[in-house]
Amino acid sequence: MKTSQNTVLIIGGTAGIGLEIVKQLTALNNHVIVTGRNKERLDSALSGLSNVTSIQFDVSKAEEVDQLVERIGKDFPNLNMVINNAGRAIVYNLADNNQDAFANAEDEMLTNYLSIIRINQKLLPILKALPESAIVNVSSVVA
Ligand SMILES: NC(=O)c1ccc[n+]([C@@H]2O[C@H](COP(=O)([O-])OP(=O)(O)OC[C@H]3O[C@@H](n4cnc5c(N)ncnc54)[C@H](OP(=O)(O)O)[C@@H]3O)[C@@H](O)[C@H]2O)c1
Repeated sequence: MKTSQNTVLIIGGTAGIGLEIVKQLTALNNHVIVTGRNKERLDSALSGLSNVTSIQFDVSKAEEVDQLVERIGKDFPNLNMVINNAGRAIVYNLADNNQDAFANAEDEMLTNYLSIIRINQKLLPILKALPESAIVNVSSVVA
């Protein structure tokens, strides 16, 4: 897998591991499309970085996935790398009645597992049209 001159989509690239990946990839002359739910976080994380496109996006929302895939197909047909980095782990006490354990688990499964399957399948036609492409899933035991 070549590490420069790629067009990369990173889901969840405004903090932590994702933001560091964005910095490393832009330094290696890749164009990086960075997503995150929070607009302020997107703006402040990417200020000072060049060769990036920021898109406010929530991977857990089906309609937003459709809109993103359509935009990528139109504006970035050379997309050849997808990094699924968004993740969620909720720490709470199961005996605490103020916490909805089912809702927490549902949220975790949607963000860490189900959404990744959905977006990967929808992006595959774009990725498969190119000679060399890759999907990288950054995950955890939560998924
Ligand atoms: N840190 C660790 O010790 C550790 C250990 C094992 C595995 N991991 C895995 O590594 C990955 C990154 O972890 P991290 O600690 O660096 O995370 P983090 O600092 O919490 O950053 C998560 C990033 O994902 C974005 N994000 C969250 N939910 C999203 C959604 N629904 N749609 C789009 N973007 C979303 C966040 O921005 P917004 O909140 O603005 O959307 C942020 O940019 C995760 O998949 C995590 O499970 C981390």
